[in-house]
Amino acid sequence: MIMDGNGRWAKERGLLRVQGHNAGMEALRGVVEHTHQLGIRYLTVYAFSTENWKRPEEEVSGIFKLLVRYMASELERLHQNNVRINILGDWSAIPEDSRRAVEAALKKTKDNTGLVFNIAINYGGRAEILRAAKILARLSEKGLADLSSFTETDFSRLLYTEDMPDPDLIIRTGGDLRLSNFLTWQSAYSELVVTDCYWPDFTDEEYDQAIDQYLHRDRRFGGIKS
Ligand code: FPP
Repeated sequence: MIMDGNGRWAKERGLLRVQGHNAGMEALRGVVEHTHQLGIRYLTVYAFSTENWKRPEEEVSGIFKLLVRYMASELERLHQNNVRINILGDWSAIPEDSRRAVEAALKKTKDNTGLVFNIAINYGGRAEILRAAKILARLSEKGLADLSSFTETDFSRLLYTEDMPDPDLIIRTGGDLRLSNFLTWQSAYSELVVTDCYWPDFTDEEYDQAIDQYLHRDRRFGGIKS
């Protein structure tokens, strides 16, 4: 999920951008619940990109405060629903209270076996690929990886998503037709659905419509129709 349009949602209502993110957090609660109801196994949301640091300090700190609030209000329920929280990105660089909230969430839900809920924080697809390349270089230097036989599947395991499957569907709200450095490696064959609705307005019905579009796609993965 590329959760875009919080700022425009707020602007249309004469509110502050951070109030748009707050409404976005409310929408996220519903989306996680609906994902669970639909029986989807993996959900990844783009909460904060490596480029989002360029925003005004007030907005950046506002988003991280929301992360703390989200964990405080949702963690127990997510845990009861067997959800495993996972972070994609370099979260060592985030404010300390958010880091503590993330640590607690990872620890509490680590043995859960239901929905895997990935939250991309300080995440960028290119940064992720570069990080994996550096890990591979180090392994190779130590004689722990054979480059001549190293496969795409082996490389995938060095990404934050490790052994998770690639996303079948990427949904972007807010109408922009781009991926914005989201799951750059993993999205090679993902289906894309872009909706004009702003993220705070992304209801269960919008979600169902996106899934319906996905179900009508003809996925060939570079092959031809059988
Ligand atoms: C993009 O909208 C949204 C973000 C950069 C932040 C998303 C954050 C949340 C939904 C808050 C809650 C997250 C968690 C995990 C608790 P935008 O600001 O780019 O919108 P615009 O394109 O209309 O300006």
